[in-house]
Amino acid sequence: MDEELKPMLSVREFDPDRDTERVEAVERICEVGPSGKLSLFTDMLRDPICRVRHSPAFLMLVAEIGEEVVGMIRGCIKTVTCGKRLSRNGKHNANNTKHVPVYTKVAYILGLRVSPNQRRMGIGLKLVHRMEAWFRDNGAEYSYMATENDNLASVKLFTDKCGYSKFRTPSILVNPVFAHRARVSPKVTIISLSPSDAEVLYRRRFATTEFFPRDIDSVLKNKLSLGTFLAVPGGSYSSETWPGPDLFLSDPPKSWALVSVWNSKEVFTLEVRGASRVKRTLAKTTRVVDRALPWLRVPSIPDLFRPFGFHFMYGLGGEGPDAAKMVKALCGFAHNLAMEKGCRVVATEVSPNEPLRSGIPHWKMLSCDEDLWCMKRLGEDYSDGSVGDWTKSQPGMSIFVDPREV
Ligand SMILES: CC(C)(COP(=O)(O)OP(=O)(O)OC[C@H]1O[C@@H](n2cnc3c(N)ncnc32)[C@H](O)[C@@H]1OP(=O)(O)O)[C@@H](O)C(=O)NCCC(=O)NCCS
Repeated sequence: MDEELKPMLSVREFDPDRDTERVEAVERICEVGPSGKLSLFTDMLRDPICRVRHSPAFLMLVAEIGEEVVGMIRGCIKTVTCGKRLSRNGKHNANNTKHVPVYTKVAYILGLRVSPNQRRMGIGLKLVHRMEAWFRDNGAEYSYMATENDNLASVKLFTDKCGYSKFRTPSILVNPVFAHRARVSPKVTIISLSPSDAEVLYRRRFATTEFFPRDIDSVLKNKLSLGTFLAVPGGSYSSETWPGPDLFLSDPPKSWALVSVWNSKEVFTLEVRGASRVKRTLAKTTRVVDRALPWLRVPSIPDLFRPFGFHFMYGLGGEGPDAAKMVKALCGFAHNLAMEKGCRVVATEVSPNEPLRSGIPHWKMLSCDEDLWCMKRLGEDYSDGSVGDWTKSQPGMSIFVDPREV
């Protein structure tokens, strides 16, 4: 590091009035992903803190050299499931035992950026250290971050210098929104649930899923949550005969599934940069054909080379032998909702072991097979009880990806 710059570097809390424009300028020149390939740019719609502001506790820091903003980092803290234990009080099976979640306070780092001309001078490292100090002061027991597997700078910074280890590798599955409606199987009925009914279903059936947020009720009631949708076999239940979550769970159909949809379009837009002229023209041609001849159902590639919004499907789960088929119907339903709202893609993120994955339509070229999550334990003196050190645990079949931090 240039010794002369050291005293001038300061890190402080983001001030929207002072910093918004300067932070956006840094964001615009920061490519995320290896250079020379397609890269993704994010437009935070004049609200650089948007990707954390819906979390229970959040902070954004900026690094400054003189008057110049040269880097930033966002972080948030929430309570999530890190494992499960047997409880003997429930009346849920012959032994009167059931699994209940074990919760921990976890912090998440995202949106770390350093201006290209100020890199390799220790600014990124300093921002991470300062954020971790805030995490510790606020009682977080773990900290994690997500990055592309091939983002060498980011992976090395966190694993070599900050003590993080590779933890989970969920897949981001992205499907384009076509100009024609997706087909939803007529054998499936889709019921829209109220946030409170959805909360009961999630807490009863999915609370032991890793990263399940204890404040699921605030996620479901957030204005960005467009609803929770339940798929059941046609003829079992309908919106009119929906008996409420308790009766439903006491006599569920053989298979069912549910998903919630988050309106990320209101938070930020994305843009793919670095595509060749040939690729852009090809994509445009498929759209022209799809729009002109919608009955052909040509799978058109949406215009991702201009800023676009998307919906995020979260809380995907289900039970029974046909649950993946139910998920497929839900994805068709979510596609049509995204089409009505003018989104160009629908995305979700699932565990590599997710049993319902086969029901999620997606395009490989738009998806990311391995989103690398790295985690660190922030202190050694926690009593994790039966779970032990979470960073050393085996992944579960499913993972809950909180839409607030997408
Ligand atoms: C990742 C990023 C924030 C690093 O910022 P930085 O200020 O350059 O990082 P630092 O100078 O603090 O580097 C600390 C350590 O990280 C590792 N590192 C950083 N950049 C690296 C690179 N390009 N190649 C390999 N290792 C790298 C090194 O171990 C480095 O220590 P060293 O310089 O003593 O070898 C910056 O490259 C960036 O903004 N990238 C684009 C946005 C992005 O990918 N963000 C991360 C998403 S989570």
